[in-house]
Amino acid sequence: MQDMTKDPKQIISDAVQAAFSSTLGAEYKDVNPVVRLSQNPKFGDYQINGIMGLAKKTSQNPRELAEKIVGVIDLEGFAESLEVAGPGFINVTLTPSALIELCVEMDSPSLGVLQSEDLHPIAIDLCGVNVAKQLHVGHLRSTIIGDSLSRVFERVGRTVYRENHLGDWGLPIAMVLDRLMRSGVNLDTLSITDLNTAYQEAKLVAKDDCGGIKTAERISAGPHRILELQEQNADATAAQESAKSALVKLQQGDKDLLLGWEKLINCTMKDVYASLDLLHVKLGPEHNRGESFYRDRLESVVDSFVKSNLAEEDDGALVVRFKDRKRPLLIRKSDGGFMYATTDLAAVYFRTQELGCDRLIYVVDARQRDHFKDLFDASTLVGWNKTPDGTSVKFEHIPFGSVLGEDKKPLKTRSGSNVTLSSLLDEAVARGRDEVKRRSKDESSQTHGMGEEELSTIGRQIGIGAIKYADLSNDLVTDYVFDMDRMVSFEGNTGPYIQYACARITSLLEKSGETDFSSNFIINTPQERQLVITLLQYGAVVQNVAQNLEPHILCMWLHELTGAFSSFYQACPVLKVDDGAIRGSRLRLSELTRRVIVDGLDLLGIEVPQKM
Ligand code: ARG
Repeated sequence: MQDMTKDPKQIISDAVQAAFSSTLGAEYKDVNPVVRLSQNPKFGDYQINGIMGLAKKTSQNPRELAEKIVGVIDLEGFAESLEVAGPGFINVTLTPSALIELCVEMDSPSLGVLQSEDLHPIAIDLCGVNVAKQLHVGHLRSTIIGDSLSRVFERVGRTVYRENHLGDWGLPIAMVLDRLMRSGVNLDTLSITDLNTAYQEAKLVAKDDCGGIKTAERISAGPHRILELQEQNADATAAQESAKSALVKLQQGDKDLLLGWEKLINCTMKDVYASLDLLHVKLGPEHNRGESFYRDRLESVVDSFVKSNLAEEDDGALVVRFKDRKRPLLIRKSDGGFMYATTDLAAVYFRTQELGCDRLIYVVDARQRDHFKDLFDASTLVGWNKTPDGTSVKFEHIPFGSVLGEDKKPLKTRSGSNVTLSSLLDEAVARGRDEVKRRSKDESSQTHGMGEEELSTIGRQIGIGAIKYADLSNDLVTDYVFDMDRMVSFEGNTGPYIQYACARITSLLEKSGETDFSSNFIINTPQERQLVITLLQYGAVVQNVAQNLEPHILCMWLHELTGAFSSFYQACPVLKVDDGAIRGSRLRLSELTRRVIVDGLDLLGIEVPQKM
């Protein structure tokens, strides 16, 4: 008998592969039989599509091969019928008893999600906020995607290190710190907006405009303009010199500077935590391992490359070269300073060699693609692509796309500055609240008569859920347009649509007056069958997301499940059906569906209001 804890597609696949092996020889035992859900339930529950390809490979007539395979597939008791169709597909219909047994297995706390056998931890690099700067939409994506992937991996039983690689060390921070301290600002009462402004100003002053001078000379901009630029440049150089010496002092452990530095971090993080909290992501101080964490490890990173003869001197600087491209990776500047990449190399060492992670996932926007390519290749050259126990490490960068405004250009405020995360979240929450309040006025609404506070909580869950779902339901690498109207809509492929469907099931279960949902399953109608076949995919869908790092697969599937439930609910009366056994089964199916939706949305980091 088959192992009913497995995904039915896997059970069919295994049986077909055994048939390949016995009909064609053991060398065919790993050929993918390509088992899919049937497009049309009329033709059965599943379809085996891989025979045509195999027939081509072995120069056989595909229909004949399909007939041969059908003759030997052993799915006794599991499949009711196996039918060859079209050019060589095989349609599979499960027996009622197999369906019921699969449902019973699934109806457990694990909901059919199997636990991984790989015990190595995984590191997920997310958020990556920079000290002295407010979070912006790019960090929003990194945080939402990283949090969701972390939840998925935890769900399949992996230990996850959520690594918030804060930009908290280096020249930009020294620059703003130097400027603030010299101007005598009280760092204890600094707001994030003040800090942000100081950062922008410091950047402006320190901007080296040598390029500008050259251009001005070339186009003969006139002595006045050139003089102005030269004066600015003198200022810039002075500010840069001062910032550089502050950085050196900071790096040498100057007490005052370190104290000030900590205050800047606190000021930044207070604002960041407020946003993270609102966002309902599992990310807190315990996940901070910023650039400063690695500051005493940079020397030894460079040593590792030097000792392995992988570092080359170039004009006083140290670089790592790659065989297949011109661009080298700079790991130490000629003035002895280290780079962003050096810190990232130290982090790779830490994650693979000290934490023992065998998968390093970086959720960082697409503009850093080259950086990560170089980082992964350099880490491989130096041997950090193996954990200490010899397991291969998988390095993955998720180069997510940009969030665009209605004009299809990167999202900006009216004045042209970057949209801050907090303003965006505030708007989403306000929209969610408006929507709930509007609906609660309707007497037939679940939320009718609720108090202000309760409505407000639900509104926040809807607004934030809407943003997250909209973000995760796209292919991550593509840009998407931030359209709040569409996101908060209760219709279409949106978060609120799924949340709402779930709240309705909750209310159905409440109305039933039952508390125990363990009647026997009875699966008779096509809609019940379709709902069950969809539900049974859950475990495989979660594994798929963990494998391919694509949360939109889960979104799509949850949307499909919601659709399957709604067809079931329309065709199959639950509370009004006379037969008690059928009522019990339908309630159990509804309860199972509700749990799966709640679990799936939780993997996306989306809360589910009880009522909406
Ligand atoms: N702080 C960086 C930025 O805002 C992102 C950090 C990404 N993570 C990393 N390990 N490099 O660009």
